[in-house]
Amino acid sequence: MAADRGEFSSRFGFLMAASGSAVGLGNIWGFPTNAASNGGAAFLFTYLILAFALAYPALMAELIIGRYARANAVTALKSLSPRPSIKLVAVLVGFVGIVTVSLILSFYSIVSGWMLAYFFEPFMRLLGLNAVGDWLVADTELRNALFVIVFMALTIYIISAGVKDGIEKWASRLMPSLFVILVLLILYVFTLPGAMAGLKAYLLPDFSRIANPQLLVDAMGQAFFSLSLGVGTMLIYGSYISKKENLPTIGSLVALLDVGIAVLAGLLILPAMYVALENGVQIFDANGGLVAGPGLIISVLPALFNTMGIIGGVVAVAFFALMTIASLTSSISMLEVPVAYSVEHHGLDRRRAAVGIGALITFISLVIVYNFDPMFDLVVTYTTEYSQPLLGLFFCLFVAWIWNRNAILEEIRQGCPDAESGLFWKIWPFYIKYICPVAILAVYFQ
Ligand code: PHE
Repeated sequence: MAADRGEFSSRFGFLMAASGSAVGLGNIWGFPTNAASNGGAAFLFTYLILAFALAYPALMAELIIGRYARANAVTALKSLSPRPSIKLVAVLVGFVGIVTVSLILSFYSIVSGWMLAYFFEPFMRLLGLNAVGDWLVADTELRNALFVIVFMALTIYIISAGVKDGIEKWASRLMPSLFVILVLLILYVFTLPGAMAGLKAYLLPDFSRIANPQLLVDAMGQAFFSLSLGVGTMLIYGSYISKKENLPTIGSLVALLDVGIAVLAGLLILPAMYVALENGVQIFDANGGLVAGPGLIISVLPALFNTMGIIGGVVAVAFFALMTIASLTSSISMLEVPVAYSVEHHGLDRRRAAVGIGALITFISLVIVYNFDPMFDLVVTYTTEYSQPLLGLFFCLFVAWIWNRNAILEEIRQGCPDAESGLFWKIWPFYIKYICPVAILAVYFQ
């Protein structure tokens, strides 16, 4: 069994896959707009602290459980549980994770479908197919439905191919491209008038906001969503890491990559918004805040690209390629959670599981597409604001209060022989036992 589960073939492969999961719409869309509406660098500062003090320990909990158990979340949590009553909780948490991540994928694929449609639009205009171009950027149920199906088909295709030939291969191709496109776009936007005002809005801290409880809630939600925590994604990726790897090191590299790309995305999005303002595009909403929701990506930025003439088409293609890549490397990690469970627990063939579960999730997405109000917001809120932080809490509790401390140390020692004397082991157990649960609960009850 262990041999055909699959394993990442190199550290680079794991890093690309895990950072691919982490870096998604949450980084390129969520982070910059959260920062803009929460006091710029004051948010950045709080986010950095929360990401490393709370989200990184929780990430490590998932990676360690995963690599120890070499199994999906349900089986893994069960294997840590000493008593039948706790095993029951384990199965429940694992299942809620599977349902949550499937629902996240069902709304994520809708937004990703928009990105794909916007990616194709400039090509249609280039070919003189203006009517098709107009159709691609008009918000219709039919377009949304078709592009959900296309996006999910890509996701299913990659997951069917397995850990090494699917996830690792594609993440290793896509993530470096994402980075290059991001940097090129930043450099280009910086040359445009208005960019510096955006940079100021992003980087000048408004520290009067830092004590604002809403800022804390937003920053923590952002950190958990961005690191893909609580739903078993990092756990299942952790289960494919070689026993020779140093877990604390690669965990911190994943967190650094995730945070680094979010910060970089801020250097693109906010300056781009102010360039748009300079070009006469409306970037503030009725309350005087920056446009943040779907409006930002599908109206403000396209309006900006339209003011840029021929180069606007190139920039639009690059930008929506960036968004599509970011979405795809995240969506595959979401689909892997239920697929791995069905393969390991019910003995399903991987390809069949990927197609069957992928089709089911696509069906849910279509139901949301055709009942957008109020279903979309409902699913987003339930999964990301309620379910995900609570599940993250349970993962911490399992590691810190239920699992045996020596067994944890033993697991970390594989690949990191002197773990016991390192900084990680001095701080992390305490964090995961007391600080993380209390902080998650405190923010949750805000
Ligand atoms: N981390 C992804 C993002 O930032 C979203 C995600 C959430 C991925 C949960 C997997 C699991 O967009």
